[in-house]
Amino acid sequence: MKKKPIILGIESSCDETAASVITENEQGLPTILSNIISSQVDVHKEFGGVVPELAARSHLEKIDLITKKAIDESGIKIDDIDAIASTAGPGLVVCLSVGLSFGKAMASSLNKPFIAVNHLEGHALSPKLNSELNYPYLLLLISGGHTQFLSVKELGSYKRLGTTIDDAVGEAFDKTAKLLGIEFPGGPQIEVYAKKGDPNKYELPKPIFHKGGCNLSFAGLKTAVLKISKQIKTEQEKYDLAASFQKTIEEILYKKTKIAFQEFKKINNDNENKFVVAGGVAANKKIREMLKDLCKEEKFKAIFPPINLCGDNAAMIAMVGLEKFKLNHFDDLDSPAKPRWPLDESAAFLKGAGVKL
Ligand code: KG4
Ligand code: ZN
Repeated sequence: MKKKPIILGIESSCDETAASVITENEQGLPTILSNIISSQVDVHKEFGGVVPELAARSHLEKIDLITKKAIDESGIKIDDIDAIASTAGPGLVVCLSVGLSFGKAMASSLNKPFIAVNHLEGHALSPKLNSELNYPYLLLLISGGHTQFLSVKELGSYKRLGTTIDDAVGEAFDKTAKLLGIEFPGGPQIEVYAKKGDPNKYELPKPIFHKGGCNLSFAGLKTAVLKISKQIKTEQEKYDLAASFQKTIEEILYKKTKIAFQEFKKINNDNENKFVVAGGVAANKKIREMLKDLCKEEKFKAIFPPINLCGDNAAMIAMVGLEKFKLNHFDDLDSPAKPRWPLDESAAFLKGAGVKL
């Protein structure tokens, strides 16, 4: 029987140092053999956000140990690895460079192919690690740096249907958490606070709700949260603001996803329309439930990565590596780190003041 490919994935684009080994089972479905993630929360906590220089230094300190751990835990021998896939972008260039250089050095010394992976494509393919998923599908990518609807035709082929014109939704969660005095990284805590609050206490704005197709905007919402947070006196009011914020985000995502469904159906005539939600914010349980309900109403199949694969990890990087390996898509050892690397290179840049929708 032909040997199943074994891929080592390496991720260091922001504040997680991660390495993972994946392969395929007898049915040809991806299987995770190990998935090691080392978070830098303690390094950045006192600064209230990620400090690039400190993040890069921490990646440098840990990358070899984390990779060794991933190989040891997987039960394979280092020579069994068929290709090394590292995140090449987008992200902080000083951080990307660590995992990229380390992956290239390993590929070179083991004499194995090297694959440069787009981190966003990692999120886009992350549900394939636990469920069967074929192209094409509609993707909602909701993370700390990105908020986009993309039609995914096949590996490497994306059409952007909508994007945020200012902040990413994860950024809005993080900023709201900071204003409520929640310790970094606060985004995931918002849903915990929201459970204890009244979602109808504060009326918050929903920018470009009635225009702009499935483009999104969160900056006005953040400003409104800032104003209200200054008047807040009690813990209960904090819970109420978190609940009102969570509800507003759900309403925005519900409306914009409904529009994205229509736009996706115009370009894809599949019998079964699939909707994938990926990225850190896809871990938000209420957003998951709301989008699952919407899928039922609109006859889309909802597909989510498991909660532990929503945030940054190296298994999703290895997943892209596995698909590229099977297509013999390899990269040169001089391929650069790319701080900006959109999935749809042809889509217009839609950020900043003066954007007309
Ligand atoms: O995908 P990710 O780990 O990193 C990026 O590529 O950006 O996403 C991180 C983002 C952060 O903004 C974090 O606050 C958000 O995902 N996040 C959440 C939750 N868990 C993580 N936002 C809302 N609810 C959650 N449960
Ligand atoms: Zn990410």
